[in-house]
Amino acid sequence: MEFTGDSDEYAILNPICSRIQQGAIKSLYKYISTPGFISLGGGLPNDSVFPFERMTVELTDGSTLFLEKQDFQKAKNGESQNNRTSALSLNYGLGKGHPNVYNWMKEHVQSVHSPPCTSWDVCHTVGGTDSIFKCLFILNIGTTLLTEEYTYPVTMDICKILGISTVGVRCDEFGIVPDALRQTCVDLANKNSPAKALYTIPTGQNPTGTSMSMERKSEVYDIAREFHLTIIEDDAYYYIQFPSSDCSDKLMEDFNEDEMPGLSLAASFLSLDVDGRVVRMDTTTKFICPGLRLGWVTGPDSFIKKYSLLNDNTCLMSSGFSQSIFSALMSHWGVEGFNNHLKRLQLYYVQQRAAALKAATEHLSELATWSIPQGGMFLWIKISGFEDTESMLEDLIEAKILMVPGKHFSSTGNSTSYLRATYATAAPEKLDEAFRRLAAVLISKGGKSAEKQKPSSNILMPS
Ligand SMILES: Cc1ncc(COP(=O)(O)O)c(C=O)c1O
Repeated sequence: MEFTGDSDEYAILNPICSRIQQGAIKSLYKYISTPGFISLGGGLPNDSVFPFERMTVELTDGSTLFLEKQDFQKAKNGESQNNRTSALSLNYGLGKGHPNVYNWMKEHVQSVHSPPCTSWDVCHTVGGTDSIFKCLFILNIGTTLLTEEYTYPVTMDICKILGISTVGVRCDEFGIVPDALRQTCVDLANKNSPAKALYTIPTGQNPTGTSMSMERKSEVYDIAREFHLTIIEDDAYYYIQFPSSDCSDKLMEDFNEDEMPGLSLAASFLSLDVDGRVVRMDTTTKFICPGLRLGWVTGPDSFIKKYSLLNDNTCLMSSGFSQSIFSALMSHWGVEGFNNHLKRLQLYYVQQRAAALKAATEHLSELATWSIPQGGMFLWIKISGFEDTESMLEDLIEAKILMVPGKHFSSTGNSTSYLRATYATAAPEKLDEAFRRLAAVLISKGGKSAEKQKPSSNILMPS
């Protein structure tokens, strides 16, 4: 059955997927690398005319990656740990990704998530945003997509392009509230427009900073089974997780790398997926750099097949330079080096979070409340006594501070009393100054006292 995912009970793919087919010429490509064939058939330029011969990439730790120009066939076997020379792939590649990159992604997903569903696969992407668009295009969403109550604005913009409306589900400090999700599903079904998919950002949620607990994930997964929902897991901040023990009162200097989770990360929706109803998006943006424009999607075979064909018909592939550098980097690091890199990354963010929390406590305690992020890079601040933070934007700009009014993340587009502040880049003293200026703006606008927070937690989530 063309449109059925791994589960026999529901169709995961949009019927328009029947139009995504392999191009006639592409089907001949397999012969290019068949021994004995003289290929006059492909449209691939000859590597000898490319102006690049080799590339060296210097890493911040002082080590160097050596990449040699190699054709597609050689590149397949060209990864050599001993002389540390990797393939610099300059020619056209496959929609699923360069074999070295594809293999790394597949093995990584297996080792981190161990998807229980039997027939799953991965495909490289041109980053998270590209994959959100393609996933929403390929999947059977219908006209309504369930999201967290506050969500990533680009996803809402993509929904507008595709004619999909978003319906937000209430969340608390553990993520999506199961009863609210069930009720929303019932309400939509009663209106004859049942939801078919849920888009969620489970780790360091953008904008609320919340990380969904394991218990919540399984409750949400059970509801997805009950209502035949596909779960679209956008885990852009997955690798920025903080130690699970409550260490939000610690100061920057109190943390060390050994305490960081590294690759010992929280279980994902994908790792719960016995049915083949989860499509997961990962991106290298937040754990390497956005300029790489490289990520991967994981999902049922039938979905990945269409995703790869859609790559063939749109971007063809992500940059060969990016794929080559990524592959060389991962081969150079190995699992241990990658784990160490993540620990350094997590330490940086947990220290930044500590600096942001200290500054917020010092300047905003009387004026606002905020959630304590368990991952990611965002502090979600509720301004007491203000219904619409959009109305203070001009004052913030005049005070030379930028924070994003919560309205821009709202699935309803309604005004809110929230501001999103990121602690990703500003130095601790700048974070302190920013919150001092915010306090001054709030006081000048007649800011009201925040309700006293419980000593054990100052988490306050949207109601
Ligand atoms: C939730 C979420 N998904 C996806 C992305 C985009 O990732 P990429 O840079 O890989 O396109 C972002 C970027 O901020 C994000 O917050």
